[in-house]
Amino acid sequence: MATQVDSIRTIYSQPEIQERIKEMGQQISSDYAKLEHPVVIGVMKGAFCFLADIVRQIKTPDPLQIEFVRLASYGSATESSGSVQTPYLELPNISRRNILVVEDIIDSGRTARFFMDYLKDQFNPATLKMAVFLDKPSRRVVPMEADYVGFTIEDLFVVGYGLDYAEKYRELPYLGELKLGGG
Ligand code: IMP
Ligand code: MG
Repeated sequence: MATQVDSIRTIYSQPEIQERIKEMGQQISSDYAKLEHPVVIGVMKGAFCFLADIVRQIKTPDPLQIEFVRLASYGSATESSGSVQTPYLELPNISRRNILVVEDIIDSGRTARFFMDYLKDQFNPATLKMAVFLDKPSRRVVPMEADYVGFTIEDLFVVGYGLDYAEKYRELPYLGELKLGGG
């Protein structure tokens, strides 16, 4: 039997992504110019590329503090399950701070909604915003809008630049639509 290989169609190239992130960085820098000691929280695993690139484009008078959590919504490989898991949710005391959450994608909105509500309850932040690399508004199940959106995309399953299919393809420097081999 021949091996069925997945194919990946490029949606945003590496230079297109970097260009967009520069613009987002300028916007965030100007919005945070007067906010004290901002804390950036990256949501693993999917946000690792976006986080690394966006923080290097944010210039604020006060230096950034960078924290990580790991959230997951297990399900089949291309559909999230609806329940948000919290494999790593350790944060220092960031009560009343200016918090910027950095996520890979808002799909159903469940993960983002859960985490924003959690941060509000736990830390009563001075400000709380979210920057996402991608938004798929047509898939929303719970209301959720990010403050900063890299790209708004159609209802496609995408991989690369941190996003995976069954833990594969996160390392690709571009974003592509995944077409599964054999179907
Ligand atoms: P939610 O449905 O908004 O809670 O998103 C849950 C998670 O599903 C996201 O943080 C991503 O990790 C993952 N996800 C959603 N859409 C895609 C996609 O097109 N490719 C890869 N991962 C995705
Ligand atoms: Mg994710």
